[in-house]
Amino acid sequence: MQHLITTGDFSKEEILNLFDDAREFLDMKSREILKGKIIVVLFFENSTRTRSAFETAAKRLGAEIIALDLGTSSINKGETTFDTVANINATKPDAIIIRHSESGLPARLADHVDCPIINAGDGNNAHPTQALLDLFTIYEHFEGKTEGKKVTIVGDVKSSRVAGSNRRLLPRFGLDLSYVAPDCFKFESDEYKQYDHIAEVIDEVDVVMSLRTQLERHNEIYFSSLQEYAKDYCITKDTFGDRDILLLHPGPVNRNVDISDEMLVDPRNKILEQVTNGVAVRMAILKKLILEQ
Ligand code: NCD
Repeated sequence: MQHLITTGDFSKEEILNLFDDAREFLDMKSREILKGKIIVVLFFENSTRTRSAFETAAKRLGAEIIALDLGTSSINKGETTFDTVANINATKPDAIIIRHSESGLPARLADHVDCPIINAGDGNNAHPTQALLDLFTIYEHFEGKTEGKKVTIVGDVKSSRVAGSNRRLLPRFGLDLSYVAPDCFKFESDEYKQYDHIAEVIDEVDVVMSLRTQLERHNEIYFSSLQEYAKDYCITKDTFGDRDILLLHPGPVNRNVDISDEMLVDPRNKILEQVTNGVAVRMAILKKLILEQ
């Protein structure tokens, strides 16, 4: 049995096979591949895209979804997350999808369940399905020729699990990564190419990935306001000029903080394409983990 805790759980070959399936699933036709299967969705943190994409993916494949309303679950009666998951596991589902604010929790749960665990985001650690859909979006755009393409990730890279998962995944496909952030959001390691301003890299890059400032993960206030941050880090028409660059963002976008109104309707922005790809990639992941036991 295989889990998806980090993108390292899949080999390059497995990822390319997932992409072959995802490409077919982009027709968004309903199928019966997972008919009779039951998938439990446990989101202990807010979500719009990831949760709806997982639920749509499961339903498009014919599976049943049990999405626990954590506001009314026994978590409020003092049960630990570990015990909640042990009990859910005892109902014998075919997969459990979990998002939690605690980094490392899905990895620890994986040894105590009888079905695949899919990490839908754990703290600031990992968000493997997001990185896989980001890679798929880049891969399809460049028709598989990712080797040597340059990607810069802009914003709160230190607290972002999306940055974490992409940092581990994209270089495996030959993508060259750099980061643009104010000092307070930079990685504390000189292992990475980090810049203060996007102007330093914009002439070289093929892809810009903008990130939301992860206010909920900060225990101090770094900027007097997000507008203050936006002055230097918001992606605008001026930032891009007429360069042929792909603009990505995992969502939710803080308008005119992460990306300007104008750039949100610019054809170089592939944010909604990422969302659609996210359904197809998650269909491929559910199929693989549930059927290839
Ligand atoms: C991200 C997340 O939750 O990690 N969103 C997502 O899943 N699409 C990014 C964020 O919250 O900023």
